[in-house]
Amino acid sequence: MASDTDQAIFFYTRHPISAAIILAKLKTARGDLAGVRPDELFAHDQDHYGGLAANDALAAAARIGAGSRVADFCAGLGGPARYLAHRYGADVTGIELTPARVAGAAELTNLVGLQDKVRVIEGNVMDVRLPDACMDAVVSQEALLHVPEKGRALAEAFRVLKAGGRLVFTDWTPHRPLSDADADLMWRGMAARTLQSVAGYRALLEGPGFRVVAVDDLTAEWGVILAERLAMYRRLREEAERAGTPAGHDAFHESYVRFVALVQTGELGGARFTAEKL
Ligand SMILES: C[S@@+](CC[C@H](N)C(=O)[O-])C[C@H]1O[C@@H](n2cnc3c(N)ncnc32)[C@H](O)[C@@H]1O
Repeated sequence: MASDTDQAIFFYTRHPISAAIILAKLKTARGDLAGVRPDELFAHDQDHYGGLAANDALAAAARIGAGSRVADFCAGLGGPARYLAHRYGADVTGIELTPARVAGAAELTNLVGLQDKVRVIEGNVMDVRLPDACMDAVVSQEALLHVPEKGRALAEAFRVLKAGGRLVFTDWTPHRPLSDADADLMWRGMAARTLQSVAGYRALLEGPGFRVVAVDDLTAEWGVILAERLAMYRRLREEAERAGTPAGHDAFHESYVRFVALVQTGELGGARFTAEKL
């Protein structure tokens, strides 16, 4: 069996949203890639549920403003990082495991001229190559589900935060343990495992010394958003099949359909956690 991180890299190297696909879409829409503005990317580069509104909720909870130094754990293609820099004037360092995502993030960031305020560095959030107490905020969206030892990632967030700094993240939160079949499907198709309930996350946050400020249940709103994302993935898959480009791996589609059903029946939930380093 592949290691937890190998499975995440496998999954994201074949993910239906990539820098190449975003650039191809932009080129088709506008003819060329000259002078692309950051906001032209935002319809394409946010790989989490709830798009820009979810970033705004994160920014408010994390108290991000002009000049804030922010770490984005599991930054993907850098979409949220670019948004926080462009909209709020933050300086953002993303940590990202998958080399293809790191390269894609650099390409997109350079394209829109945000390279002085945004950088996505290759690394694992369980072992972050940043100094102690260098960040005002740490954020993360829909990514810790892939991280095998979530307590280590949260301890790293605690370490890199300044006193009074906030960690705000969203993640899947099972409302009851998944069946073995569902757990296996989520691992094979979406590289998700060691999922934490809300109570589990509270305990992991309190371990290094965070004060839990708020836990917002997002399950109901995710149910609606996920139905739309499933439709989008189906469209992307059909487009890719027609164009003869990679359509993503089949286990992803099978697991995504089941994932959406689990959220809609409330067996699997989602939550936003806000925690402060005392
Ligand atoms: C659903 S994407 C979210 C990307 C980004 N947060 C966003 O909202 O657009 C999850 C990302 O987490 C990354 N990832 C998974 N495990 C990781 C780890 N242990 N350390 C750093 N990044 C990781 C994946 O490569 C993927 O790019």
